[in-house]
Amino acid sequence: MIEVENLTKYYGNYYALKGVTFSVAKGEILGFLGPNGAGKTTTMRILTCFFPATGGKARVAGFDVFEEPLEVRKRIGYLPENVPLYKDITVEDYLEFAAGIKGVARRDVKNAVTKVMDECVLTDVAYKFIGELSKGYRQRVGLAQALVNDPEVLILDEPTIGLDPRQIIEIRKLIKNLAGRRTIILSTHILPEVSMTCQRVVIINEGKVIAVDTPQNLTAKVQGASRFLVKIDGPSQDVMKELRAINGVERVTRRDEYGNNGVGEYVVEAIKDRDIKRNIAPVIVNKGWALLELRPQEMSLEDIFVKLVTKE
Ligand SMILES: Nc1ncnc2c1ncn2[C@@H]1O[C@H](COP(=O)(O)OP(=O)(O)O)[C@@H](O)[C@H]1O
Ligand SMILES: [Mg+2]
Repeated sequence: MIEVENLTKYYGNYYALKGVTFSVAKGEILGFLGPNGAGKTTTMRILTCFFPATGGKARVAGFDVFEEPLEVRKRIGYLPENVPLYKDITVEDYLEFAAGIKGVARRDVKNAVTKVMDECVLTDVAYKFIGELSKGYRQRVGLAQALVNDPEVLILDEPTIGLDPRQIIEIRKLIKNLAGRRTIILSTHILPEVSMTCQRVVIINEGKVIAVDTPQNLTAKVQGASRFLVKIDGPSQDVMKELRAINGVERVTRRDEYGNNGVGEYVVEAIKDRDIKRNIAPVIVNKGWALLELRPQEMSLEDIFVKLVTKE
């Protein structure tokens, strides 16, 4: 549904995009993840025909962004980073106005607005002025204006930025409900966002794509070797020594600060591609110590992100 090929963008002589390539399948929610300044907004502005790229290709629903911008615009809904909303107009009037601009036929406007207000849970505030709304509601109005012409493709630039935790959950729920019929790109610099909302992630850094995968595969790939969290009741020094001596163990670190005797939490890392899971318990039990917990420790997306970005 969306194909981006070797996209470049210079601002003056500053390279904001250095050849970005990725694609999004119909009905997919793609997470576009990267730190501030990575080039997310720039890419989205090119896709929404806000400005042209310096080089490369982009197609949306089969239409070239540069050659057929009108066709592309008809099929795209865009929630920009900072939604420019009018304050002295009611939600309903604003959405009718937005529908008009987006070429919804006059006789269909009422229906379109009613539907989109229902979808974005705005019906209760239809007659309120936008200036009176909380940030969470305003963001929903932004989402509603992006949806009002029933686009196949939705481009959402940091849709949860500046919202409180409860509002974030609501917006995420809305976005998830929009999936399936629509193809969505959602940018964020917040990691948990993508694992909660997206099926696939493109990670971008300094204008280059550094990873494309499912959140699960990214974890497996970057992690490489397996790690376990082991909780043991035993003398710390001896426990560390025994754990380090286990066949296939690369590194052991103490994780807690309980003190040197009694219960301790240890992270046991395996040498790449070695399975150490079965080797841990017998050693502990043999020594007469109590094994209170043994579980795999997955890397968080945060760890992965830092690892990928610093590798560059
Ligand atoms: N209009 C502009 N003129 C000059 N530099 C810009 C402009 N817009 C963005 N940049 C620069 O391009 C880079 C990418 O910006 P942007 O696409 O906004 O990143 P992101 O959305 O990932 O935070 C940044 O270094 C930013 O400072
Ligand atoms: Mg941005």
